[in-house]
Amino acid sequence: MHIDRYERYWLIAVAATLGAFFAALVATLVVFGVSLPSPVGRVNPQNLEASEFAEPGVRYIGGNRYQAHIVARMWQFDAGPEAGAPPKIRVPAGSEVNFFVTSKDIIHGFYIQNHTINLEVIPGQVSQATVKFNRPGVYQIVCNHYCGTGHAVMYGEIIVE
Ligand code: CUA
Repeated sequence: MHIDRYERYWLIAVAATLGAFFAALVATLVVFGVSLPSPVGRVNPQNLEASEFAEPGVRYIGGNRYQAHIVARMWQFDAGPEAGAPPKIRVPAGSEVNFFVTSKDIIHGFYIQNHTINLEVIPGQVSQATVKFNRPGVYQIVCNHYCGTGHAVMYGEIIVE
């Protein structure tokens, strides 16, 4: 089969570009230890009471591991009565927290400062990410998806003690 020389250059250029993007992605994952956010389940946003999000909050599940269920809505994150509003989530340093986040209404974001966690929070969908908190400190959680007038005040804190 004859392939025009320029066409072949283009094919190589495209393949090289894709390869570079892929390499950059892999490098990011390896170097920064990013855990890719992944949708792990579906829920009915009109009936979260019947789901694992009925009682949002942080649970200790053994070892250094915690599970956090968080409901995003206009315009706050609900992490249970213990965390308050805006929520303050407390975990000891060295904890590994498995976040499950969903939305009750519209699309929100779930970004944790200094931890490259950046979830899209979509009604009906459960977004999940695992974060290891090695260093004590206060890390802001912010909604980074524009969601209306209260967007700027939609935040919370993770306090690593
Ligand atoms: Cu919720 Cu922006």
